[in-house]
Amino acid sequence: MIRPSTPESISEAASALVGGRLIGLPTETVYGLGSDAANVSAIKRIFALKNRPADHPLIVHIQSADHLDNWATDITEMARELASYFWPGPLTLILQRHSLVPAEVSGGRSTIGLRAPAHPVAQLILAEFGGGIAAPSANRFGRVSPTTAQHVLDEFGNAPDLALIVDGGPCTIGVESTIVDVTTSQPKILRHGKISAEDISLRLGVDIENDVGGESRASGMLAAHYQPTARVVLAGDPEQANQLVASLSAINPSAPIYRLPLYDSVESFACDLYNQLRTADAVGASTIVVVMPPSSPGLANAIRDRLSKAAHR
Ligand code: TXA
Ligand code: MG
Repeated sequence: MIRPSTPESISEAASALVGGRLIGLPTETVYGLGSDAANVSAIKRIFALKNRPADHPLIVHIQSADHLDNWATDITEMARELASYFWPGPLTLILQRHSLVPAEVSGGRSTIGLRAPAHPVAQLILAEFGGGIAAPSANRFGRVSPTTAQHVLDEFGNAPDLALIVDGGPCTIGVESTIVDVTTSQPKILRHGKISAEDISLRLGVDIENDVGGESRASGMLAAHYQPTARVVLAGDPEQANQLVASLSAINPSAPIYRLPLYDSVESFACDLYNQLRTADAVGASTIVVVMPPSSPGLANAIRDRLSKAAHR
């Protein structure tokens, strides 16, 4: 099921998409569960396999900004500027959906999320396939996103709809793309990622509204998400983490506690985060104690956002 990335496996992945089947594919953020974005029954297979509610929109992956007009309409100059500057890369643009694109991919919305991934294997699959690939993170609904091919296999095993998982190595970023709504003249951030509101604002010369968890949020951005089986407990600093561990062990000495390491950089934290949450479950932890990074633009806020959702009960 897991195949190293070779010309053969890339052709096989492209053929699987043409045949309406699903593939696991690497991106620089997290692994995706991909299907032909123009094939309604293939899109429905994604929702079924993930156990995802039908009104939660998917992101369509395209090769480059040159393909924008096949998928979206009313594309503003700001949107084109962001696509040409940040693509390929970890930025998803919300635009008006083209009338020829199936509504199912957007969970029935009039808009569409588009992104050109930077991972070379994703680019090769897109080039050979030729169309757009609808790909949510390759995890069951509400659970932790996968950052290796093995994580995808752990999620879906040998599901008959999944033709193969192309192994592109561990993801280099480790948290999902930044989402920015560019359907109006006031761009809004809907999900934090590596590319910060400041990066975008600097590029466009306008202020960016922070609408994470706000009014225009899509279904799919729930308070509880990215959840391991173990309970996640958040600490503000290492000292507070020690106190939490001490009091949790006093309450229940036999319940195994898993502590996330402390990281030198937010880059290494983001890169390792989901792997750690999965490891904690694999070793049977009942509680995961983690020190939150201090709030700052970009990856630190992305990590804080994912951890808050992982900890939400
Ligand atoms: O980095 C990523 O974005 C990864 C990789 C695989 O590309 N994909 C990913 O997909 O995180 P998913 O489905 O796990 O998360 C997509 C998010 C959801 O929260 C969804 O609500 C939002 O994007 N979204 C997609 N289309 C949207 C739309 N038309 N309007 C608002 N939000 C949308
Ligand atoms: Mg997801």
